[in-house]
Amino acid sequence: MAAITERTFIAIKPDGVQRRLVGEIIRRFERKGFKLVAMKLTHASEDLLREHYIDLKERPFYAGLVQYMHSGPVVAMVWEGLNVIKTGRVMLGETNPMDSKPGTIRGDLCVQVGRNIIHGSDSLESAEAEINLWFTPEELVDYRSCAHEWIYE
Ligand code: RTP
Ligand code: MG
Repeated sequence: MAAITERTFIAIKPDGVQRRLVGEIIRRFERKGFKLVAMKLTHASEDLLREHYIDLKERPFYAGLVQYMHSGPVVAMVWEGLNVIKTGRVMLGETNPMDSKPGTIRGDLCVQVGRNIIHGSDSLESAEAEINLWFTPEELVDYRSCAHEWIYE
C-alpha cells in the first residue's frame, strides 16, 4: 500500500540545469503537494553514474548516457508524498519526449530521448537504492510540512 512517507529520487540532468529549467521543475513538484526532503547541485562522478544506471549496462547507449550525465552538474533531490514514485513518473512523462503528453515535464520542455532533462525512480526498490547512492542519511532532512493537513485528510 502506498504511504504518505513514500520517497523518490528525482534528478535534473545536466541539460535541464544548463537550460535553466531547475526552478520550473521544482515548482511542479512543490505545487503538486510533494515535500522536498533533500537537494543538492552536484557534478556526479562517472563511477556514481555507472552505478546509478547499472541496470542499463548492456544497452548500446549506456556509455553515452554516462557521458551525458557527467557532462555537467545535476540537481539531485528526494521528494516525499503519497504514491510519489508512480505519480512522479507520470509528471515526468515517457522516456522519449516524442511519446510524452503535453502537460508532462518531458512533454513540455524537451525533444529528444538522449536529452530528456530529468530522471525519476521507477520502483520502491530503485528509489531506496538511488536515495542511498546519492545521499547520506544526514542529508535527508527531517521536518514537518505546515501544509500537511491541507494536502492530506
Ligand atoms: P530515467 O532512468 O533517466 O528516469 O529514464 P527512464 O526510466 O524513463 O528510462 P530508462 O530506460 O531508465 O533510460 C535511462 C535514460 O537513458 C537514456 N536513453 N537513451 N538513446 C536511447 O535510445 C535511449 N534510451 C534511453 C534516456 O536519457 C533515459 O532517460
Ligand atoms: Mg530509468
